[in-house]
Amino acid sequence: MNVDARPDRNLALELVRTTEYAALAAARWIGRGEKESADGAAVDAMRLMLGTVHMDGTVVIGEGEKDEAPMLYNGEKIGDGSPPEVDIAVDPLEGTDLCAKGFPNSLAVIALADRGTMFDPGPCFYMEKMAAAKDVAHLLDLERPLPETLQLIAKEKGTSVGDVVVVMLDRERHDDAVREIREAGARIRFIPHGDVAASLIAVTQGSPIDLMYGIGGTPEGVLSASAIKCIGGKIIGRLWPRNDEERRAALEAGYDLEEVLDTDRLVSGENIFFSATGVTEGDMLAGVHFEGPEGATTESLVMRSRSGTVRKVHARHDRAKLREITGEMVG
Ligand code: FBP
Repeated sequence: MNVDARPDRNLALELVRTTEYAALAAARWIGRGEKESADGAAVDAMRLMLGTVHMDGTVVIGEGEKDEAPMLYNGEKIGDGSPPEVDIAVDPLEGTDLCAKGFPNSLAVIALADRGTMFDPGPCFYMEKMAAAKDVAHLLDLERPLPETLQLIAKEKGTSVGDVVVVMLDRERHDDAVREIREAGARIRFIPHGDVAASLIAVTQGSPIDLMYGIGGTPEGVLSASAIKCIGGKIIGRLWPRNDEERRAALEAGYDLEEVLDTDRLVSGENIFFSATGVTEGDMLAGVHFEGPEGATTESLVMRSRSGTVRKVHARHDRAKLREITGEMVG
């Protein structure tokens, strides 16, 4: 037996409590049209539970810079300072607008990796991304024209390009890509928000989605890469500055805007822990279900790259007891 490979603590099993808390808190805001309140509730709840995790964590991907985010800001130290030393990527509510409007696929998400192994997106808000499952992972390429990639995916899957489905954010910046995909004969499933959930479904073998493509948040790219290191498949990305100012800031900070970042570049190492809990109903995860004032259920995806174990955790929560523990914050 390899001594280093012996079973040890699986932090993902502790992280699931943080995403459950965030999801339960955000879910009180589903459909109420107040995305900031939903996000704030998720942040507070996740922060409360994160304090119980024994680790020496630094937030690398968080709610923004310290002056704009009172909690879970980039650079914030989390945990009790005991080993392991880890980078943390959090999105307590991925898809704030989805939650506010009651649309599917909003999630509470967190990922942990060894210190210094997560890509720091710096000033770049967006990234061009492409993700797919293991069987076609070798075909991902941001340089090759999209129609050719779609043809290759169809050939690899032994099907016609008319059966290939691409999931992408419904944005004007994708107009050219949309035209190319449709001219190639492939199909598009547009989503209003939430490309972490979209990446997860795209990399799931046998799902109705063959490819995730488009320009979306860089933090979401790192979170998706963390999940993909655990679940399999591949994501690639390239920074996509929104304007000249962002481009200049990125170049000054030493970023190579031509570099294609693969899954391992977005999060390196083999010790990644990931947890996501559904807030609204989704393709991969059920949303929070409230059972009157006393109960609630959650569904989470809990994974670790080293072992490759993917757990679906169904939990039943006692809302009255949660209120006793957290005040009105959760439950
Ligand atoms: P929020 O949870 O911060 O609202 O982000 C949702 C999201 O749709 C992401 O999934 C996606 O990567 C990004 O926003 C796209 O940004 P934009 O809405 O500016 O196109």
